[in-house]
Amino acid sequence: MFDTQDLRGLILARKSVRTYSGRPLTDEQIWQIKSFINNPDNRKGIFGSVRFELLENKKDTVFGAYGDIIGAPYYIAVITQNNKEALLDAGYTFERVVLYAESIGLSTCWLAATSFNRNEAELKVGLNEGEIIAAISPIGEKAEKQSDVEILDRLKLKSDSRLEFDTLFADAQSGGKIKDSATREIFQMVRMAPSALNNQPWRVVIDEGVAHFYVIRKFFLHLKYDFQMLDLGAAVYHYCTSANKYNCFQHNPHSKNDLEYVISVK
Ligand SMILES: Cc1cc2nc3c(=O)[nH]c(=O)nc-3n(C[C@H](O)[C@H](O)[C@H](O)COP(=O)(O)O)c2cc1C
Repeated sequence: MFDTQDLRGLILARKSVRTYSGRPLTDEQIWQIKSFINNPDNRKGIFGSVRFELLENKKDTVFGAYGDIIGAPYYIAVITQNNKEALLDAGYTFERVVLYAESIGLSTCWLAATSFNRNEAELKVGLNEGEIIAAISPIGEKAEKQSDVEILDRLKLKSDSRLEFDTLFADAQSGGKIKDSATREIFQMVRMAPSALNNQPWRVVIDEGVAHFYVIRKFFLHLKYDFQMLDLGAAVYHYCTSANKYNCFQHNPHSKNDLEYVISVK
């Protein structure tokens, strides 16, 4: 869908945007987004498919106004079942939408951890049996100037930085740092993936070309769904597209590891 050079540029350019220009999307932009999110290939995750909704945010009436998001003309919601695999799919597919938005010059900001009124949002979207709104994002043109609240949010979350490369990724063969420069370049793209608390809760061990993803659990946000799988899904998407490897499977190769195993990609 994206060629590798484009993808790298998009991953490096993308930032969460919380202050929008307030200008409506053009008919062409709406058509582009709808075509993308309704394409069955783009709804497909690792285990199954999700669905997306694009909703106009007339006078902040879609899901209510969230303190920190200003002037967003539209929101996209990703809807799925409430289980680990489906949430991993939501993370994987929603990050695809986020990078697509970036590719057509529109900004986004994942909202899943804290910032939206889930009950209100559910009423607007209309859920089928067992479905939840896994995340939403404003989508639109960013404002020329960030609001003070946005500047403070980014400082609080240290959004311009990430944990050290060698804290996040390891080579099973050497038991330490990944040395191969092409592999390091691919994992740099994973390192840049967004995460709810900007804490990169994933760790990856690469073993003979197979990347094994683990999660570090944070239990202090008592949400009724496994929001960390969204972070994992987004990181796995960055890996699959950057490495051009899409064979995802589950088994636990490193049973001595005390992190929680999630998925492998080869
Ligand atoms: C799964 C997920 C949930 C998020 N939830 C929220 C949220 O509820 N509120 C918010 O302001 N930002 C949220 N974010 C945005 C992160 O705070 C942001 O990605 C992180 O600080 C890194 O900044 P960057 O996206 O500009 O690189 C979320 C991101 C992800 C991936």
